[in-house]
Amino acid sequence: MKVTMIGAGYVGLVSGACFADFGHEVVCVDHDPAKLEALNSGRIPIYEPGLDALVASNAKQGRLIFSGDLASAVASADVVFIAVGTPSRRGDGYADLSYVEQAAREIARSMDGFTVVVTKSTVPVGTGDEVERIIQAENPEADFAVVSNPEFLREGSAIDDFKRPDRIVIGTTDERARKVMQEIYRPLFLNAAPVLFTERRTAELTKYAGNAFLAMKVTFINEIADLCERVGANVQDVARGIGMDGRIGPKFLHAGPGYGGSCFPKDTLALVKTAQDAESPVRLIETTVAINDQRKRAMARKVVRACGGSVRGKTIGVLGLTFKQNTDDMREAPSLNIIQALQDNGATIQAYDPEGMDQAAQLLDNVAFCKTAYETAKDAHALVIVTEWDAFRSLDLERLRETMASPILVDLRNIYNPTQVEAAGFTYESIGRGSNGWMIDAASEAAE
Ligand code: UGA
Repeated sequence: MKVTMIGAGYVGLVSGACFADFGHEVVCVDHDPAKLEALNSGRIPIYEPGLDALVASNAKQGRLIFSGDLASAVASADVVFIAVGTPSRRGDGYADLSYVEQAAREIARSMDGFTVVVTKSTVPVGTGDEVERIIQAENPEADFAVVSNPEFLREGSAIDDFKRPDRIVIGTTDERARKVMQEIYRPLFLNAAPVLFTERRTAELTKYAGNAFLAMKVTFINEIADLCERVGANVQDVARGIGMDGRIGPKFLHAGPGYGGSCFPKDTLALVKTAQDAESPVRLIETTVAINDQRKRAMARKVVRACGGSVRGKTIGVLGLTFKQNTDDMREAPSLNIIQALQDNGATIQAYDPEGMDQAAQLLDNVAFCKTAYETAKDAHALVIVTEWDAFRSLDLERLRETMASPILVDLRNIYNPTQVEAAGFTYESIGRGSNGWMIDAASEAAE
């Protein structure tokens, strides 16, 4: 099949490379000449494990082409995927659909023969109808069908998620489009990946409902973690205990500094807006958004408390800046709020991240970027783990302690064992693993 992907961002690039790897002929179209130049000379503008090799091998075999010429890429395509950004609209939280609408207009002008137009970008319910309307208005003769096919891949494991999906959701009631989509995903049908064919609006909402549910699940365990700290319980055991219940499931129950990234924050907000407009508010998600915003700032207060109540004049080392490991993405990363709050409280920040420092440098002021975790610990009054990179999981604690001004470790991802860290001479704070909660304090006070 001839596939054209509009947008060579995260979703477009990964999906395009994977479709090419399935044997389809793929053209990835992007407006950004610098990005095209980079891709055509084998440089991948984002960090995603395995993507460089996948792009290189498919480009070499001529199945994956990067181009700025949308018109001819669309004219020759059986399927055109719209994979452009839908960022939060500044000020109001609605998804900004201007790139999607622009793509629809450009596609309409260049279509030749029956063409399936697929929205892969995350778009609010009803956007497919709007894309259809735009194409019809722009080119009344066009023979086409608009399909919703949301993407569920995660940054950091995007290729595996694409090639071994939990499910594929395809929203269309057009029989010709259904056949084309079946052909596109045939390699996955053969692997018995579950496919849900449904109506277009349902597919669009499924994407938002999925991300909102996961954001809520993370936020739930984060609140339980706070409670654990207060009552002297262990959130990891609680998560294990509830996760073994098949109705709950063990995933997305790692307590941490709050969710970030390019999807959960923007998609939860957009769903809230859609639901308010439809006069059917999603109050659980409204609350999830508010709790998560507060949580990022609360993490800075946790560091201040660990430092004895003040960080003024102190140096804080920050390990991990990206919103999660295995990505260079800094969008809505908790590190941004935490560092800003610590600086507002008078701290000096030195930080290290294996992949995110270039992007972080554009978003953070007055941060000294270090080359290693050990350099980050040097002369620091406290070391804070914000992102759970594998490289931080077995640091030489002795070596860290010797270089630090005071041995305080705040682990916002629970990647260390409290007993071991304390045995190495550290004061250790983590998430939801309270042993000095108020109940225990109250019990010992009563015993005195
Ligand atoms: C998320 C979804 O997981 C994907 O299915 C979806 O396709 C994607 O958004 C999207 O809409 O494009 P992603 O943003 O890459 O993927 O990241 P996740 O792995 O879902 O993590 C999101 C945030 O939740 C991160 O800040 C992460 O640290 C946090 N998180 C996740 C936790 O704090 N605890 C967990 O147990 C899981």
